[in-house]
Amino acid sequence: MDRNERIASLIKIEGVSEEEIASLLSAPKDLAFADVALPCFRFAKALRKSPVQIAEELAAKISQDLPPYLLSCAALNGYLNFKFSRENMAKDTLLKVLREKENYGKSDLGKGKTICIDFSSVNIAKPFHIGHLSSTVIGGALSRIFSALGYTVVRINHLGDWGTQFGKMIVAYKKWGEDADIEKGGVKALHKLYVRFHQEAEQDESLNDLGRHYFKLIEDGDKEALALFERFKAVSLAEAKRVYDRLGIDFDSYAGESFYNDKMQPVLDKLEEKGLLVESDGAKIVDVGDDMPPCLLVRSDGATLYATRDLAAAYYRKKTYDFYKCLYVVAYQQNLHFKQVFKVLELLGEPWAKDLEHVNFGMVSLVDGTMSSRQGKVVYLEDVLNSAVEKAKSIIEEKNPNLEKKDEIAEEVGVGAVIFGALINNRIKDITFSYDKVLNFDGETCPYVQYTHARCASLIEKAGGFDIEKADFSALENAHEIISAISSFEDMLRSAAEKREPSVITRHAVDLAELFNKYYIDNRILNAEESVKNARLALTFAVKQVLANSLTLLGIAAPNKM
Ligand code: ARG
Repeated sequence: MDRNERIASLIKIEGVSEEEIASLLSAPKDLAFADVALPCFRFAKALRKSPVQIAEELAAKISQDLPPYLLSCAALNGYLNFKFSRENMAKDTLLKVLREKENYGKSDLGKGKTICIDFSSVNIAKPFHIGHLSSTVIGGALSRIFSALGYTVVRINHLGDWGTQFGKMIVAYKKWGEDADIEKGGVKALHKLYVRFHQEAEQDESLNDLGRHYFKLIEDGDKEALALFERFKAVSLAEAKRVYDRLGIDFDSYAGESFYNDKMQPVLDKLEEKGLLVESDGAKIVDVGDDMPPCLLVRSDGATLYATRDLAAAYYRKKTYDFYKCLYVVAYQQNLHFKQVFKVLELLGEPWAKDLEHVNFGMVSLVDGTMSSRQGKVVYLEDVLNSAVEKAKSIIEEKNPNLEKKDEIAEEVGVGAVIFGALINNRIKDITFSYDKVLNFDGETCPYVQYTHARCASLIEKAGGFDIEKADFSALENAHEIISAISSFEDMLRSAAEKREPSVITRHAVDLAELFNKYYIDNRILNAEESVKNARLALTFAVKQVLANSLTLLGIAAPNKM
């Protein structure tokens, strides 16, 4: 039984299951009053008592027969507060981490439930730019977090692979394209062609017509046009996959917009049947209420839109995966789009429309020098990763020139710094990205957490291991905050999942690293007396493990040396 289950079994509330109580227990920010607390507010209505009264009655009852692992059980302002015997809690917590190791924190909370996560969703023949960073790493972290909680996760890359721009690309390629350039330059070369198309089209309007013509050919399945389109797609995907490999990201499906070409008509028919599709200036729209503009689904020339494809995709996902939730990790610029799409499904009477969720996030821009995206230049994510790794390498050269496998570690530190930097704040906040900030070894950064992890590893290695049987856990009384942080890791995982917020994990990792580094300054570990040393090394091991597990969830490596 884990800590919460054990406490929950002491609390008897009519009509509330032990499981529910266990899920409501959590560690407060301030450990002065409790190690774990139960808010009693939500029982007030059913029990027809005030939360204060409920907490007091429960506290009185439980205190009568307090189990030995508890120090106290008391009521305060509607909370039922538990304090653990410190020695006991230290022992329980550390033994659990030692037993479960890389599985520590995992559970089967979500067993039998499927979550679809639509993330990264890059656009073909367009740069995989720094704007896609957040979607990619937030989605990646959420997919690992939900998997760790036992959910079945379907990772979907809803590729932007449809639209007139592909007709234009074909025109540009035929006019000015060189195979050798594309071979060498990849998406950058394709993008250059695209930019040139727009420049030339300003002088020569007929190019746009030609673009539309070629797009129509793709739609009609013309062999040559399709082959070119597939080729652009292959070049783009190969490049995106290179980035995904470095970020430790995989997808279960690359069903992009073009996949839904033949799946939109049934949705439009359904809308028509229900009288929801309205003609307006030759276009077809759905009125989604007074608080938003209508959702445009078919243009007057018969072309379908981004929203039409998302409607078809939602049906397809429900039918294929029977999801419990379907999350869309997309920037807040698309708030309106998702509100409209979700509303259309609600108007269609789909009961699962409520299970669709837009997990939005803020903008990313870069501060360092010439790479500013504000100057209208595109910042390629791959270039950002390369620069971060290069800078990490020079920091390592300076700090630890004799380190083995320097290139490997520089990759882990540099890429980790970029990921962590994108996940440290609430996702809705805009990010101004700076290499110096994310690569700082002191601060709320990845290198700081990785370095603390490596410090723990080196302590354990220097000690030649430890013997948990011979540990004196009473020596850990002054490590209570660390023990609490370790034992609340499971709560953190749950909370990160509930809020769809990986920053809960990044923050917790930074806090834990800080606590340990403080402890390390004030307490001798290696030359303490044997039983004390064993206890402190067990603590060190648990800190290392929780930091490693956190980094793994975020998609970041935890090197033992750096
Ligand atoms: N490709 C789109 C973009 O880069 C994001 C797609 C998000 N997913 C979706 N189902 N609409 O803006």
